[in-house]
Amino acid sequence: MTTIGILGAGQLGKMLAEAAAELGFKTHVFAPDADPVAAAAATHFTQADYEDIKALQKFAASVDVITLEFENVPVAPLKKLATPIYPSPAALEISQHRVREKTLANSLGIETAPFAAVRSPEELRRAMETVGVPGILKTCTLGYDGKGQWKVATPADAPPLPPGDYIYEGFVQFDKEISVIVARGTGGEIQCFEPVENMHRNHILHTTTAPANISAEIAAKAIHTATTLANALEVAGLLAVEMFITRDGHVLMNEMAPRPHNSGHWTLDGCNVSQFEQAIRAVTGMKLIAPKRTAEKVVMTNLIGDEVNHLESWKKPGAHIHMYGKKESRPGRKMGHVTILSPRD
Ligand SMILES: Nc1ncnc2c1ncn2[C@@H]1O[C@H](COP(=O)(O)OP(=O)(O)O)[C@@H](O)[C@H]1O
Ligand SMILES: [Mg+2]
Repeated sequence: MTTIGILGAGQLGKMLAEAAAELGFKTHVFAPDADPVAAAAATHFTQADYEDIKALQKFAASVDVITLEFENVPVAPLKKLATPIYPSPAALEISQHRVREKTLANSLGIETAPFAAVRSPEELRRAMETVGVPGILKTCTLGYDGKGQWKVATPADAPPLPPGDYIYEGFVQFDKEISVIVARGTGGEIQCFEPVENMHRNHILHTTTAPANISAEIAAKAIHTATTLANALEVAGLLAVEMFITRDGHVLMNEMAPRPHNSGHWTLDGCNVSQFEQAIRAVTGMKLIAPKRTAEKVVMTNLIGDEVNHLESWKKPGAHIHMYGKKESRPGRKMGHVTILSPRD
């Protein structure tokens, strides 16, 4: 195996391509964007639409395996390609749709917020009656950083919505938000990164702290949740699972993504294996590494929008600054991150 294809070309693709290069692989990134950040880190870049089957076939023929940094790639064209795709289009189909992923979780005995599928104002009214208020109405697909979500206490709170698939979820009074990133090899081998704690600001991940400040029992439940989902989806590669911890110790699956995750960036500096290296290992059939944190505590902070203009304040011992190379900073745009390691005493 020599060349790894990557669908999507943002910072996750860039860091995947860098990890692949360190392991001696070539990379070919495919995305619709002009001049994306991952292109500079990859061996080849194809700019084409995800529905452009001719371009996809040419891309697939040029690589040994295809993986992704963006899970919202249309699945139908991918199913026509002969090259192995890890995680599989079948896993993508579930994880790119909020009702499907929560239904799968519940069928495996994993708890979620109470929810109902919504396709019309009438169904929203009924969902609010059965699930209870307040709640959050979300688009089933393509949502990120809180986009496509509305907190609602009465049906009138929902904006006029175009037809489509929506989910109504009961509002969870969670104590903590955590995530677990699990790597699963092509032969089913599993390695988990430890649970980390996530703080959001304006619906965008602000900080991730490793380890999460949770009991061993909750950590075990969270790891069990992530590995159960990865096994059920037969993931090869990474599965990142976001969870809510309630005050009474319930672990609720919130959403999952079959790719590297922002809450795993701490592993680049604070762990013996990064999530990106582990992903490349998993999709190429290499042995997975058992992750071990290398500092007492690791805190990753996202640099959003204009925050990149104040890098000097982050220059201190134990701080690792990562810039993604995006030309333009916009409000809410992830421009880079900083990881701070607190040494063991
Ligand atoms: N059912 C819920 N109850 C309470 N808070 C929620 C609920 N769903 C989402 N949130 C909050 O909104 C954030 C974003 O929602 P999420 O489902 O993760 O969508 P995305 O990250 O794709 O925008 C979550 O991290 C959490 O803070
Ligand atoms: Mg989320």
